[in-house]
Amino acid sequence: MIENYKNTVEKALKDYFLEYSKNSSYSSLIWESMSYTTLLGGKRLRAIMCFEVGRIFKVKIEDLIPCACALEVMHAYSLIHDDLPCMDNDDLRRQKPTNHKVFGEAIALLAGDALIPFGAQLIIEKTPEKISKTTILDIVNDYLICAGAKGIVAGQVADIEAEGKKIDIDNLKYIHKYKTGALFKLAILMGAKIAAVESKIIDKLTVFADNFGVLFQVYDDIIDCTLTTEELGKTANKDESSKKMTYVSAYGLEEAKNIFYSLVDKNRAILKQMNIESKVFDDIYNMLIKKIGV
Ligand code: IPE
Ligand code: IPE
Ligand code: MG
Ligand code: MG
Ligand code: MG
Repeated sequence: MIENYKNTVEKALKDYFLEYSKNSSYSSLIWESMSYTTLLGGKRLRAIMCFEVGRIFKVKIEDLIPCACALEVMHAYSLIHDDLPCMDNDDLRRQKPTNHKVFGEAIALLAGDALIPFGAQLIIEKTPEKISKTTILDIVNDYLICAGAKGIVAGQVADIEAEGKKIDIDNLKYIHKYKTGALFKLAILMGAKIAAVESKIIDKLTVFADNFGVLFQVYDDIIDCTLTTEELGKTANKDESSKKMTYVSAYGLEEAKNIFYSLVDKNRAILKQMNIESKVFDDIYNMLIKKIGV
């Protein structure tokens, strides 16, 4: 199932880039840069989770393809900007040179900028007609909130401000909830909103999604200092060298792992309580657990 979801989003992204980059004349370079990072692969977790929540609530995969692509497009923007010299200053992403290493800082900055509206455009222009315009408006609004100063940007600002400082745990949770959690929340709620589920379910899924966002960033903090650059496909030990505040720097490696495992348990319990069975979510947890070890 995960493979099928992944192949579906890969193919659709390729097709959309081909279609939209046509006749771009003197600005074709921006499409090269935008598609470079977006099509480099990655786990495609956000798209996979969007499809899976859709499946749980009986949405056809075709109805979610534009949303799933928009998630990966926004993710690519966040990675390109996160890697810029003025942010985390990283040279390697998804096993390849970062966007600014290939295209230069100016084009990388502009590619990130251009990816944000591109994702919104895909949702609006490519979601099948049978999905109501009210639902699409709601989803695009969520997408814009996620991209902006109440979403990823909020978390990234707090992350940058915390560099080299000792911040309290609420501040750390805020960073993780927004810089990483905002996009997972969008992914999960998109699937549910296309299915037009009732607001009580949206509320439960919001708790689930917020929790997933934090556990995923705790996972990322852990592997940053336990895996090699080759295994990560991005520079190892980056958080320590940049004096980032992470769950590992705040709690130590062992306790960070305990926190990760307890967040996984909490998430499993939420789905169980909702009577939802999902092999895909189980496979995702197992994939993360395998990388972390005990
Ligand atoms: C990396 O996300 C950035 C974080 C939010 C930690 P992923 O680990 O999902 O990156 P890809 O998409 O697989 O490259
Ligand atoms: C990711 O945080 C947040 C983003 C919005 C991309 P990190 O800075 O830890 O992500 P990586 O480790 O560079 O992928
Ligand atoms: Mg960062
Ligand atoms: Mg980074
Ligand atoms: Mg990281």
